[in-house]
Amino acid sequence: MTDKYAVIGNPVSHSKSPLIHAMFARQTGQDIAYEAILAPLQGFAETLAQLRSTGYCGCNITVPFKFEACKLATQLTERGKAAQAVNTLKLEDSWLLGDNTDGVGLVRDISRSLLLQGKRVLLLGAGGAAYGVILPLLQAGASLTVVNRTVEKSQKLQTAFDGKVDICSYPELPGKQFDCVINATSSGLSKEMPDLPVAIFDAGAMAYDLMYGTETPFMKFSRQHGATIVMDGLGMLVEQAAESFFLWRGVRPETTAIIKALRNPQ
Ligand code: ATR
Repeated sequence: MTDKYAVIGNPVSHSKSPLIHAMFARQTGQDIAYEAILAPLQGFAETLAQLRSTGYCGCNITVPFKFEACKLATQLTERGKAAQAVNTLKLEDSWLLGDNTDGVGLVRDISRSLLLQGKRVLLLGAGGAAYGVILPLLQAGASLTVVNRTVEKSQKLQTAFDGKVDICSYPELPGKQFDCVINATSSGLSKEMPDLPVAIFDAGAMAYDLMYGTETPFMKFSRQHGATIVMDGLGMLVEQAAESFFLWRGVRPETTAIIKALRNPQ
């Protein structure tokens, strides 16, 4: 019997997850169906209950339901707990496992080009996207500094991660250099550029934007000011999906060809 999965969001019609999971299913021979489901803004819990009662095996969660999904989960992985938000649920009769695969997806994509162990990494932002990627970055051995416009939020984040990240403000950045700068702010959505000094990249540094689909002002700035590798978040999107697929099916899809196919659609 075909096992059913879905991504739940609002909006959700733009989601590439159905396409990616269909490609995974074809590649691995797993018999699954995967669809996008629009939940009313006040109706996530009801939508989820409906999926459970109709035999769905798992779902991905996207904006704005990741925090609510975290609260509804009856068990959380270490990554889900640290992120305080989940993008993946495994549905069983009596329990609901919540995981966050965003951070491991980011680390896998970065690791194609840069070994994070011992590297100085600057993370821009202290919102939900930043929380989602911190634990896997620390576990990969990065030495992590978080910078945020609103300093109270980075202080709160530092406490949540038991002081394992350094924090600073934008005015404190000049004079500091990093091997990797990751944009986890929402600045790209409004075509804005976080206030970075031009000498922020050390030799051979990488710039990574969690957004994908367009070249953000951050990516443009990074190309102009010495980043050797500039990446958008498409690889992370595929890698986080692969980790969800693995959690549900116990089979790990091969991602390189799929990222390539999404970048260069026929
Ligand atoms: P998300 O869940 O995508 O992280 P969020 O929780 O609203 O969304 O957080 C957005 C983040 O982007 C915040 O860290 C925000 O900084 P503030 O906390 O100071 O508002 C950051 N951000 C948005 N626009 C920015 C800009 N132009 N420059 C720097 N940081 C920006």
